[in-house]
Amino acid sequence: MRVVGLTVGLVLLIASCGSGDEPGLLGEDLFTSIVVGGKAGCTACHSIEPGADGIGPSLAGIGSVAGTRVAGVTAGEYLRASITDPDSHLVEGYATGVMPKGWKLSDAQIDSLVEYLLDL
Ligand code: HEC
Repeated sequence: MRVVGLTVGLVLLIASCGSGDEPGLLGEDLFTSIVVGGKAGCTACHSIEPGADGIGPSLAGIGSVAGTRVAGVTAGEYLRASITDPDSHLVEGYATGVMPKGWKLSDAQIDSLVEYLLDL
């Protein structure tokens, strides 16, 4: 776990020095940006290759899985909550507090990320 902590620290350090935080980015461009909403971008922790789990779980096929995560919660609602309130549901095997919260993203940007993830 110490290694994970160090890796997260390093990723955040690199992200805070990096550029590419474009307020107008949407969807896939936003997902793959090095810095997203002032924090390490999604791809620092998430791959979209099946089984390629990193600091966070692979998001391959998340569009089909999302709707099955929490009873009574739709895929879109689950994905939105995963971004705005990541600790509201923890993926098995992952710890609380690792995925950043408080992203400085507009509603339209969060919607565009949800739409991108729904198609994975
Ligand atoms: C510092 C690492 C980190 C970053 C950066 C990060 N995440 Fe995560 N994410 C995690 C971890 C760890 C989990 C698993 C724990 C949990 O469920 O909160 C997770 C969970 C998720 C889940 C739920 C996956 C599932 O299988 O149910 C989604 C969706 C997600 N992240 C999307 C994003 C998006 C979109 C971004 C960029 C805006 C992002 N993450 C940035 C670490 C990160």
